[in-house]
Amino acid sequence: MIHKTLLAGLTGVLMLAATAASAQAPSVEKAQKMAANAGCFACHTIKHKDGSLPIGPAWEDVAAQYKDKPGANEFLTRIVLEGSNPYSSHWKNKAAGLAMPPNAVAITEGDARQLVAWILSLAK
Ligand code: HEC
Repeated sequence: MIHKTLLAGLTGVLMLAATAASAQAPSVEKAQKMAANAGCFACHTIKHKDGSLPIGPAWEDVAAQYKDKPGANEFLTRIVLEGSNPYSSHWKNKAAGLAMPPNAVAITEGDARQLVAWILSLAK
């Protein structure tokens, strides 16, 4: 009996965690507005451009890189809020910027999660 109750409780917790991690991607307009307000476009473009390296990776390329990775939304939301580690760049030789500064001053965690969900939805 105790086991059943425990299991039910655990399942509930796991389901809650899953809900928190999966954010609904907002509309293009809303996503672009959030990104513009938070200053993301100072370093990022949405579309990949050939030629000189961008400061930060184009979001289409981010989507392609992470589309099949479980937990990508949570992982990237943390990096957006806390910044990236210059000593373990995920975009070595693919972006001119050494690291992304923390953006938690410019965007809320909820908005960052939504924006990341939208970025990931750009995968073809
Ligand atoms: C000052 C420049 C700058 C700004 C502003 C900036 N970024 Fe970045 N961003 C970067 C750089 C540089 C990288 C590559 C980090 C690396 O090499 O691991 C990056 C990487 C990323 C990644 C991929 C992370 C990874 O580890 O693969 C995402 C997603 C991202 N940025 C989203 C955002 C969002 C959303 C905003 C706005 C809230 C933002 N960035 C603002 C420079 C910036």
